[in-house]
Amino acid sequence: MATYSTERVLRVQHWSDSLFSFSTTRSPGLRFENGQFVMLGIQGDGASRITRAYSIASANYEEELEFYSIKVPHGPLTSRLQFIEPGAALLVSSKPTGTLVLRDLKPGKRLFLLATGTGVAPFLAIAKDPETYERFEEVYLIRGARTIDGLAYADSVLQRLRDKPYIGEFVSSQLRDYPTVTRQAFRNRGRITTLIESGALFENLSTQPLDRERDRLMVCGNMRMIADLSRILDSKGFCVSPRVGVTGDYVIERAFVETYDVAPAGDPAAGDPAAGDPAARGPAADDRDRARRAVQC
Ligand SMILES: Cc1cc2nc3c(=O)[nH]c(=O)nc-3n(C[C@H](O)[C@H](O)[C@H](O)COP(=O)(O)OP(=O)(O)OC[C@H]3O[C@@H](n4cnc5c(N)ncnc54)[C@H](O)[C@@H]3O)c2cc1C
Ligand SMILES: NC(=O)c1ccc[n+]([C@@H]2O[C@H](COP(=O)([O-])OP(=O)(O)OC[C@H]3O[C@@H](n4cnc5c(N)ncnc54)[C@H](OP(=O)(O)O)[C@@H]3O)[C@@H](O)[C@H]2O)c1
Repeated sequence: MATYSTERVLRVQHWSDSLFSFSTTRSPGLRFENGQFVMLGIQGDGASRITRAYSIASANYEEELEFYSIKVPHGPLTSRLQFIEPGAALLVSSKPTGTLVLRDLKPGKRLFLLATGTGVAPFLAIAKDPETYERFEEVYLIRGARTIDGLAYADSVLQRLRDKPYIGEFVSSQLRDYPTVTRQAFRNRGRITTLIESGALFENLSTQPLDRERDRLMVCGNMRMIADLSRILDSKGFCVSPRVGVTGDYVIERAFVETYDVAPAGDPAAGDPAAGDPAARGPAADDRDRARRAVQC
């Protein structure tokens, strides 16, 4: 059973009808690696509580914790969490965990951080980490969203990061940011998978295509995207880290793949025929299996 500390909400910012970020106090005893997640929740009536996994978007050297959240219509947690205000109490688990950690990547020259939606959150912590730039000469943050407002939170974090002493110099000289949108006009268009398969991503960034000898990757976001990218990477000879403590050419958030066992991937409002029925197999279950089958090192 996870143990929790009670933290206070310090700030809340709404970025769109479906996205918001918030910061909280940080228990002095809370240690984590950049890229990890905690269980975060609210106390319900009596002894009940609603908790969900949340990637930590703030870096492990920062005094406060920051999170970036979706608002799922009728979602048990976020239909309530979206109304929090400064001063509110939140539960934060005491033992962060997760597979999106730098130490599980083999040495390389270039690091690609590939995210969709709120999956960008752990990569903001990675982008804030000086070790990222010590280990990799070039860092590419490729982040996809349906619409432009889905990019605003990371835009703001990155802008502030570039202005910070010390880490700002690494970010300005070594991080290339590539936001892309799929359902609106924007300077960069298209799904990350399509951009990689067509080679357009590398042309637009004026850099070389993926190469197993040189490149390492971290992938987070939509489960279908994780499954599709795993397939693309496997076909290029990259192998995935199978678990914490074992290095690979790329890492995915395994807890995400395990959590959404038969739950809907994609549009929760539309739902998945298999959702809530452990015996049923829908597209999400197939995606999960495909992600699990990624070629291991
Ligand atoms: C390891 C891990 C890290 C996570 N980190 C974050 C994070 O940093 N920020 C965040 O907002 N969520 C994150 N999630 C999802 C989060 O745990 C909850 O699912 C989310 O807060 C919604 O909670 P809910 O109770 O309102 O709805 P739930 O019942 O949990 O979700 C309902 C449905 O909504 C969809 N959904 C849930 N979360 C998302 C999302 N983030 N983007 C798109 N669709 C989604 C899924 O189809 C899901 O089946 C993470 C999940 C895992 C496993
Ligand atoms: N984010 C928003 O601005 C927004 C606004 C209103 C409501 N919502 C709701 O919130 C829920 C989650 O939306 P979301 O936008 O955060 O997450 P999402 O549906 O996972 O989409 C995020 C990005 O991932 C892309 N993507 C999806 N599947 C992919 C795959 N297999 N390979 C590569 N890329 C893939 C999407 O492209 P495609 O567009 O091509 O699918 C989109 O650009 C949805 O129910 C949505 O209705 C979100």
